[in-house]
Amino acid sequence: MAKSGKTASILLLNGPNLNLLGTREPHLYGSETLAQIERRLTARAKAAGVKLTCVQTNHEGVAVDCVQQAKRDGVGFILLNPAAFTYSSIALRDALTAVQIPFLEVHLSNIHAREPWRAHSHFTAVAVGSILGLGSRGYDLAFEFALERVKAGGGA
Ligand code: DQA
Repeated sequence: MAKSGKTASILLLNGPNLNLLGTREPHLYGSETLAQIERRLTARAKAAGVKLTCVQTNHEGVAVDCVQQAKRDGVGFILLNPAAFTYSSIALRDALTAVQIPFLEVHLSNIHAREPWRAHSHFTAVAVGSILGLGSRGYDLAFEFALERVKAGGGA
């Protein structure tokens, strides 16, 4: 429950190719599947009395629609792994700044320790913060932060 008395709500939004987690370059992204990560966070959300919506999409427009829908649904905080949209999607960044829902940027790998072109994210400057390089554990830590924020009414 948020301070407002409404059930607090968090969106987990994962971008392209993250549906392949578990088999996709496990040396970079680990062996846990997205379904496993989502199940764990959903259980944690349930225990905390918070609503968690999990979306993964390979399509930029769907991600933009999802962020706009989050505003209409009263989502208080977004956890976003933009994946390859990190480097290309001004549209998704604009959607996030348009709706003014605070968000954390999550990457499983340390994007600063890889190819130089991976280091510049369109999202970092408008995110509350980022979690990089901690593998799937990064989602859990990001979720705990989001939980604190929405419970304190510090979301949207
Ligand atoms: C990623 C890192 C990106 O560079 C890459 O395009 C991804 C996954 C990560 O979680 O480490 O798809 O966002």
